[in-house]
Amino acid sequence: MKSERPKSRLKCCFERSANVSITVEDASVKDLDKLHEIEQKCFGTEAFTRRQIASLLMGYNTVSLVAKENDDIIGFIIGTIEFEGSIPVGHILTIDVLPSRRKKGVGVSLLEGLEGIFKTRKAVQARLEVREGNAEALSLYGKTGYKKVGRLKGYYGHTDGLLLMKRLGKLQ
Ligand SMILES: CC(C)(COP(=O)(O)OP(=O)(O)OC[C@H]1O[C@@H](n2cnc3c(N)ncnc32)[C@H](O)[C@@H]1OP(=O)(O)O)[C@@H](O)C(=O)NCCC(=O)NCCS
Repeated sequence: MKSERPKSRLKCCFERSANVSITVEDASVKDLDKLHEIEQKCFGTEAFTRRQIASLLMGYNTVSLVAKENDDIIGFIIGTIEFEGSIPVGHILTIDVLPSRRKKGVGVSLLEGLEGIFKTRKAVQARLEVREGNAEALSLYGKTGYKKVGRLKGYYGHTDGLLLMKRLGKLQ
């Protein structure tokens, strides 16, 4: 029997003002072009390719969320559940907010949405790699409870990466 990818069924909403409503909900393959466009605006030559994003959106253990403002996608996050032995661990692969929509809480909402789904999948921690010197991202992760646990020499070519981790739950 063909197995189906479990859906996160997330849809949450937060208000920035009386007129603007931002929702965070599951991404779909139909969003591919927009996600690729945002990824390019956020990461330029280092962006995931369209094909890579498509493969992530369809991955069995992948969780993808979009943030929408009045039905327009303004940001997204993609993570995956990996296993260390039998222990599930959430791995955040990318988080992107359109430059014109930053500093309004969208990044935090996407991160919290993904962490909530990691927890429902029994992940005990969330982790991610970030470029040393990415001040906006480091500030976002610091504010939301991520701690530096390692340095990844040359992870981004000439620049080191930092490995960050946040505990989400207790080992059963
Ligand atoms: C990192 C990123 C996702 C943050 O998105 P955002 O929607 O602006 O984040 P939020 O508005 O939720 O901000 C949350 C916190 O992040 C930090 N932050 C965000 N932008 C910042 C900036 N320009 N300077 C300093 N801190 C910043 C702040 O601590 C902020 O909290 P505050 O608003 O209370 O000060 C966004 O800047 C982005 O898409 N960057 C390009 C892609 C990228 O680098 N992704 C991370 C890869 S590891």
